[in-house]
Amino acid sequence: MKKLFLLFCMIIGVLTMAQASDFILIKGGTFQMGSPDSEDWRSNDEVLHSVTVSPFYMASHEVTQQEWREVTGKNPSSFTGDNLPVESITWLEAVEFCNALSRKEGKTPVYKVSDGGRTVTWDRGADGYRLPTEAEWEFAARAGTTTPFYSKRVPGADDVNFYGHYPYQIEQNYFNDSVLETQPGVYRGKTLPVGSFKPNPWGLYDIYGNVGEWCFDYYGDYSASNQTDPAGPDSGTRRVYRGGGWNDFGKNLRSAYRAAMQQSSSAYNVGLRLVFNGDKSPSGTVVTKEAAVTSSGSGKGKALIIYYSWSGNTRGVAREIQKQTGYDIIELELVKPYSNNYSTVLNEAQRDQHKQARPELKTKIDKKKWEEYDTIILGYPNWWASIPMPIATLLESYDFAGRTILPFCSHGGGRFGQSLTAIAKLAPKAKIGKGLSVHYSGGPALPKDVENWLKDNR
Ligand SMILES: Cc1cc2nc3c(=O)[nH]c(=O)nc-3n(C[C@H](O)[C@H](O)[C@H](O)COP(=O)(O)O)c2cc1C
Repeated sequence: MKKLFLLFCMIIGVLTMAQASDFILIKGGTFQMGSPDSEDWRSNDEVLHSVTVSPFYMASHEVTQQEWREVTGKNPSSFTGDNLPVESITWLEAVEFCNALSRKEGKTPVYKVSDGGRTVTWDRGADGYRLPTEAEWEFAARAGTTTPFYSKRVPGADDVNFYGHYPYQIEQNYFNDSVLETQPGVYRGKTLPVGSFKPNPWGLYDIYGNVGEWCFDYYGDYSASNQTDPAGPDSGTRRVYRGGGWNDFGKNLRSAYRAAMQQSSSAYNVGLRLVFNGDKSPSGTVVTKEAAVTSSGSGKGKALIIYYSWSGNTRGVAREIQKQTGYDIIELELVKPYSNNYSTVLNEAQRDQHKQARPELKTKIDKKKWEEYDTIILGYPNWWASIPMPIATLLESYDFAGRTILPFCSHGGGRFGQSLTAIAKLAPKAKIGKGLSVHYSGGPALPKDVENWLKDNR
């Protein structure tokens, strides 16, 4: 009896020690990736298509700061706590972390990073830790569902750590939110310890919210045809991250929503979740390369401050930047300006975002003049967790290829929201520098904040 008890203890010990106990086998299968046309707040880049995914293991929780520090000796996170998810890490750092952890545990590293990070080769047959592909991530998040979220009920602040004031579909129901099944809740404004809420049906904690999660793929259009174990385009300028974070609106937590950022950029709401191969994973190598981009700019380093402002806060920031730099400055005006009335503009702005409108700009910039600028310092207010649509018009009207965009955003608490993803998608060939987010007018700290930000971008 004593022997049996000892054996039992040993088995339990081995099971709990094993790293794999934190990993869940995601049995493969075929699913519809993307969203149907009927899904509210979908984007055009979510084209529905059939994808087959081989079995793989996925961590039940996001990588914590303790886990990150044990491997790298560092902790770059904006919010600190051992059990909080690591954030403010670049895609390249995430990939290096996967390799370092693999080496530490005697597994074979899956990535080879060369050419200063411009080329990344993935050995698909290797057993080491890695990032999920975008398809693996969405397959696991959906847990067999085809609805916007894995739960029938729209997630609220008691289910997920996100911008709880703004659950799914709040935008068009802002003045009548009692019709929403999930009511606005608390906005915590920070990350929470991993696993603070119930997991999705397949046991994955915080798959929505807390921090967005880097995926392997370059961002690009989906193929409409059936795919098996897709790994994204071979070349690109942005990498995908998924799931939304602590400051994202409900619409950006959807299983199909795709966020994107440069592989060398980081954000306080983006971290990672590890996966490793199952026994039937595909073999072979995937080679990805950063796309080469040429600029029509003069190369003389001239910069332009260009901004849209509705109630003056962004204008104030723009003027402070101009005061400190002496750069040329332009305020965007519209052919049909938005209403001066706050309630009306809230409606107009959500309507325009909902239909991805491109309001016509009254402001025109001479194309020859435009060629002189290599850096565009781009300002806007955060509107419904993204850019005001006039900024989309601007980004599509002028050539941003090879130019550096330095974004600055005035907001009422949501910081950038998903505005940086919107810019990254609309100007895919621009290099995006570090952004500045300013709470309303920025207050007395504004001059110093602007000065530091300009220094950081030098
Ligand atoms: C239509 C509209 C939508 C807004 N949406 C958000 C939002 O999603 N998140 C946020 O933090 N602030 C939001 N705000 C607040 C503005 O970002 C904030 O007041 C900003 O300082 C306005 O800049 P401006 O004075 O340059 O227009 C919104 C304001 C308006 C008018």
